[in-house]
Amino acid sequence: MNGFIIKKYQKMASTNTFLKENAHNFSDRTVIVADIQTGGRGRLGKTFHSEDKGGLYMSVLLKGYDAPQELTVRAAVCVHRAIEKAFGLSCAVKWVNDIYYNGKKLCGILCERTGDGSIICGIGVNVHERDFPDEIKDIACSIGDYVDDADKDRLLEAILADMDKALSDDFKEIMAYYKAKCFVIGMKVRVLVGLDDYEALVLDIADDGNLIVMKDDGTAASLNSGEIVLKLK
Ligand code: BTN
Repeated sequence: MNGFIIKKYQKMASTNTFLKENAHNFSDRTVIVADIQTGGRGRLGKTFHSEDKGGLYMSVLLKGYDAPQELTVRAAVCVHRAIEKAFGLSCAVKWVNDIYYNGKKLCGILCERTGDGSIICGIGVNVHERDFPDEIKDIACSIGDYVDDADKDRLLEAILADMDKALSDDFKEIMAYYKAKCFVIGMKVRVLVGLDDYEALVLDIADDGNLIVMKDDGTAASLNSGEIVLKLK
């Protein structure tokens, strides 16, 4: 499908790590899918809960692609559109590339360079998990919570059917979609970047995907990495 070569495995530590270590053995657009990950990785060194068969855990190898920040935005748009097309759920995007539904996280995306000019785009979607571990049970949800026929293969197909377009569409159009779905604009958040930890108001998302925030002292900052934590009040 669109030149994507799908390779399915029952179990591995992490599809991103596997592709990173074996990229030289695989062609461009190889997609590694695992039923279970025993060491799923998230952004900023975090773990990603993926020992449950109910999730879609996949990594796409993009050889000769060297625009990680752009890819992060393109991937979020791709998954957002795919979930909507496959299941009719209209989700929201939390900067930088988490997909949320009903205020809870449904999907995380981790784009990493291989060191030889390629990028691995790792996508983890909670499709029909039922029992999340205590530490995330209040902040995570799965498609199956809202849809009767949540099916991993249907989602995989929808993601790959959209990805070709998401990778090649004019970035301005991708950015416009991303901004329209990103719910953090106008919200008060906690910003975690390196050792910095401060509260700020999200003003906008710049054309390159940077988050523009205003700190409590009135100064503005433009973030191209890091994390924001939503403040409920
Ligand atoms: C995040 O939420 O911080 C990003 C999570 C990315 C998870 C996916 S699952 C498939 C791929 N393999 C990994 O180890 N991580 C990504």
